[in-house]
Amino acid sequence: MTNTKGHFIVFEGIDGCGKTTQISLLKKRIEQNGARCFETKEPSDGPVGSMIRQCLTGRIKVDESTLAALFAADRLDHINNTTDGLSIKINDGINVISDRFILSTYAYQSVRVPLDWVMNMNSLAASLLKPDYHIFIDVEPDITLERMSKGRFHTELFENKKRLTEVRNRYFELIDKLKDTENIIIIDGNQGIDDISEEIWSKVSHLFK
Ligand code: TYD
Repeated sequence: MTNTKGHFIVFEGIDGCGKTTQISLLKKRIEQNGARCFETKEPSDGPVGSMIRQCLTGRIKVDESTLAALFAADRLDHINNTTDGLSIKINDGINVISDRFILSTYAYQSVRVPLDWVMNMNSLAASLLKPDYHIFIDVEPDITLERMSKGRFHTELFENKKRLTEVRNRYFELIDKLKDTENIIIIDGNQGIDDISEEIWSKVSHLFK
């Protein structure tokens, strides 16, 4: 009986960058190595996450600082809730992959709300759970918007070129700002699906061997 903790890998990038496909490929590879893996996302499926989805589609109207606070609250619930919180899973030895985590709030919300305030509000979550790796899949907004126009669920709030360009710039600023404290891997998301998957595996596979 070992009590090894699970690893925690998060995927980041602007809307439509291809995270979903890569997350399922990585999960398969981790499981092929005989390890357990749980896939999750933010906004989460919890109560605050459901409220956030209604804000993103315009069903509920809130200002952007309130939305930033909701993302921080959703993250704490995602980590701490006693039913299926990430802390419990990771302590049980389950590897977790999350579609978005703390860098998403820093990048998306700091376009309209001061970054320091956003970081302060997320400081508890940051101290509770630190990703082994943040994988940032980089694709230009023109390309992701073109992909997204070919049919899928839309969140009205952020899926426009100006905002996505600002968010992408924020990601690059953050990657530089956090380079000494966070393990952030930048992947060129313009490559083919299999090449991206290989590159990601070459960086993280050591965790599962
Ligand atoms: P979602 O439909 O999950 O989009 P995607 O598949 O592109 O990730 O909606 C998530 C949206 O919420 C997306 O536009 C990014 C945004 N978001 C934030 O603004 N801040 C955050 O902290 C998170 C987790 C997501």
